[in-house]
Amino acid sequence: MPNPQRVLADVREPVVVFQVGMRINRLRSVRRWLPAFIAMPRMLHELGVDPALGMLGAKTYLSGRTVMVVTYWRSFEALEAFANAADHSHRPAWTAFYRRSAGSGRAVGIFHETYRVEPGAAESLYVDIPAGFGLGGAVGTIPVNGSLETARQRKDRERSVS
Ligand code: HEM
Repeated sequence: MPNPQRVLADVREPVVVFQVGMRINRLRSVRRWLPAFIAMPRMLHELGVDPALGMLGAKTYLSGRTVMVVTYWRSFEALEAFANAADHSHRPAWTAFYRRSAGSGRAVGIFHETYRVEPGAAESLYVDIPAGFGLGGAVGTIPVNGSLETARQRKDRERSVS
C-alpha cells in the first residue's frame, strides 16, 4: 500500500549505497550470461535472510539490457566483508565470472558504484510510495513537517541531527 504521507529518510548515521549490476552485451549467448544473471538473486536472498551481514535494503531495476540493484549498507566494511568472504556466494561467483569471461566474447559486463551518504549531505522525499522503499526503507522515515518543505531544509535538517 502506498504511504499516504509525505516522508523523508531519517539519516542519522552514514549509510553506504552500493549500486551493482550487469549489462547483457550479447543477448543470444544465453549460456554465457545466465550464470552471472542467476548469481544475483542468490546473493540478495543470502543478504536478505541474514541482517548481520549488514545490508539494509535492496531494489532491482531493469533498463533495456541492463539490470541494476540499488542496495543500502550499514558500512563499507560490511559490504567488503560480504564480497570477499569465502563462505558466501559472492567470492566464488567473482572467480567464476573471470574464468568464464576468458572465452565468453564479453557476453555480459558487470559494474558497481559505491557512495557514502552522510547526514547533512543527502536529501530525500517520498510521496504516496509504499513504506520500505529506497533509502527511507533502509534507515526509517519521518513525516515532512512545516520546516522540511524544501530540499534544502531536508538536507540541512539531516546535518542538525548528526
Ligand atoms: C548483491 C550483489 C552483489 C554485491 C553486494 C557485490 C559486491 C561487490 C564488491 C563490494 C566488490 C568489490 C570487492 C573488493 O574489491 O574488495 C565486488 C566485486 C566483484 N563482483 Fe560483485 N557484488 C554483487 C553481485 C555480483 C554479481 C551478480 C556478479 C557476477 C557474477 C559479481 C561479480 C563481481 C566481480 C567479477 C568482482 C571483481 C571485479 C574486479 O575487481 O575486477 N558481483 N562485488
